[in-house]
Amino acid sequence: MAYSATLIHGDGIGPEVVTAAVRVLEATGVAFEWDEQAAGLGAYESAGDELPEATLASIARTRLALKGPLTTPVGTGFKSVNVRLRQHFDLYANVRPCVTLPGIPSRFDDVDLVLYRENTEGLYAGLEYFDERNQIADSISRITRRGSERILRFAFEDMIRRGRHRLTLAHKANILKRTSGMFLTIGREMAAEYPALQFDDRIIDNMAMQLVIAPDAYDGIVTTNLFGDILSDLMAGLVGGLGVTGSANVGDDAAIFEAVHGSAPDIAGQGKANPTALIRSAEMMLHHIGEHAAAGAVAKGLVDVYADGSALTGDLGGSASTTTFTDALVERVAFHAAR
Ligand code: NAI
Ligand code: MG
Repeated sequence: MAYSATLIHGDGIGPEVVTAAVRVLEATGVAFEWDEQAAGLGAYESAGDELPEATLASIARTRLALKGPLTTPVGTGFKSVNVRLRQHFDLYANVRPCVTLPGIPSRFDDVDLVLYRENTEGLYAGLEYFDERNQIADSISRITRRGSERILRFAFEDMIRRGRHRLTLAHKANILKRTSGMFLTIGREMAAEYPALQFDDRIIDNMAMQLVIAPDAYDGIVTTNLFGDILSDLMAGLVGGLGVTGSANVGDDAAIFEAVHGSAPDIAGQGKANPTALIRSAEMMLHHIGEHAAAGAVAKGLVDVYADGSALTGDLGGSASTTTFTDALVERVAFHAAR
């Protein structure tokens, strides 16, 4: 049986890293039937539409997409396709695991964190107002019970699925008593349904400090949109940056897996791109469909290739091409998948 999934190559280095990720997925032995669809600047230039109907229809059908980075031209009416996809499919959970890989310069040796960020409301709900006469700008942070319940439910369930043990809720309920306060209250209520998970909470500023002092003390973190935006990049910085961090945008009807970095036009088409971030996203896609052993094989393969260090790409100080790196990884992933 093959899983049906939508594949978007994207712009810039997109096609290079997508090809690498597809090869790594093949090496796990899990079969995918890819429905290749266009989006981004390339789709706009060739067909006049940066987010074609056929692409939306494909994701609606497969409910699963692996997506390369897309170029958003600056200073045009072209709205970010990434934002449109998130809104169209109501992808309310943004998930970012951050795991230390050997041989990548970073401050800590043993980081293994997952961040669950609410992706649709809070200060990013788009409720901004400007009083021209008095020069006063307002932004409304909207938190709803429904929005809070669904991200919290997702985080608790995902932690259990991944065999993790402790979920920490980050908030500012001491000051933002209504918004952050409701989020915290709902989190505490829900925690009672998951006695197998340790649950606690931290005030966001303290959370940020704790994460840079002792990230290995934490396991999973769930939070609202703005706090999650900031913490997710902080956490990526703990393990070597955006080039090695994958992400998922998950809703009830679809899930889209993508790297956190952009289309890197400065190195596109030169075989220099590091595909690790998208491969991490592909690993998350395997977890999402329940192929946990295959996901484990990808994770172990990455540890092997990074520990060996002879096939690293230029961004991490090596001289291997995207293809050479991927060849080495495919060999290790196939080895672990066969065990
Ligand atoms: P970028 O992430 O594309 O590049 C920043 C720097 O990191 C560049 O020097 C690039 O060469 C390097 N880099 C990025 N990914 C790399 C990789 N996998 N391997 C080796 N080096 C890598 O960010 P930038 O330049 O701000 O954005 C370029 C375009 O990408 C813009 O059009 C932007 O809108 C788009 N973008 C798309 C995203 C998405 O589709 N999810 C996310 C972020 C930006
Ligand atoms: Mg961000």
